[in-house]
Amino acid sequence: MTGKKIVVAIDGFSSCGKSTMAKELAATVGYTYIDTGAMYRAVSLYALRNGLMDETSIDEARLEQQIKSIRVDFRPNGKSGSDIYLNDENVESEIRTLEVANGASRVSTLKFVREHLVAMQQKMGAAKGVVMDGRDIGTVVFPNAELKIFLTATPEVRAERRYKELLQKGITISFDDVLANVKERDERDTHRKESPLRKADDAILFDNSFLSPEEQRAWLYGVFSDTVANQ
Ligand code: DC
Repeated sequence: MTGKKIVVAIDGFSSCGKSTMAKELAATVGYTYIDTGAMYRAVSLYALRNGLMDETSIDEARLEQQIKSIRVDFRPNGKSGSDIYLNDENVESEIRTLEVANGASRVSTLKFVREHLVAMQQKMGAAKGVVMDGRDIGTVVFPNAELKIFLTATPEVRAERRYKELLQKGITISFDDVLANVKERDERDTHRKESPLRKADDAILFDNSFLSPEEQRAWLYGVFSDTVANQ
């Protein structure tokens, strides 16, 4: 892709397909994909491994003391994407467990954790040519991003997608429990004090509830091309 490089910020609710869309766009246009959720998950893994967090509490004072020593970066994995490293260790699969995800949702409410990771994300995107997905990219990390997308789908559609994924992994759970979990996470993401999930005023709202992957891809590539052409 020729032309000026831009920053693409993709925010939205959980289980909306943000990372799939962001990853595909980055690969298509030769940009770097940055999964900021993975960074919160890496901090969660660090806290769990070092006894700084359990199911009921977080030792905030000790986590804050150690936060500067938590280094997170992405390195090419020799396939088509990249893996996340925590202090030089590849933790791409370790961060995908339910325990780490739940911890990520809790550490992501802490101001000092957000400040540390936002500073890293801003450095990663400083040269542009990035597609970054998360909850606060268009509002906090890159408020001047050239293209901001706010992705959404109905809770029922998202729960259905998540339910199918869990079934495929062999996890038995009722649809109603998955839907309740989706709604609970929405509530936490949108109501937390630090950087709650919200659509930036200049973000494009995109509801993908009833679109096929091909329709989503075509739409995203279209708005990306238009934005680059207008730079
Ligand atoms: O997108 P994900 O499920 O991998 O994100 C893990 C957690 O991190 C989730 O609870 C939301 C939080 N998060 C955040 O607060 N800000 C971001 N930019 C990305 C993720």
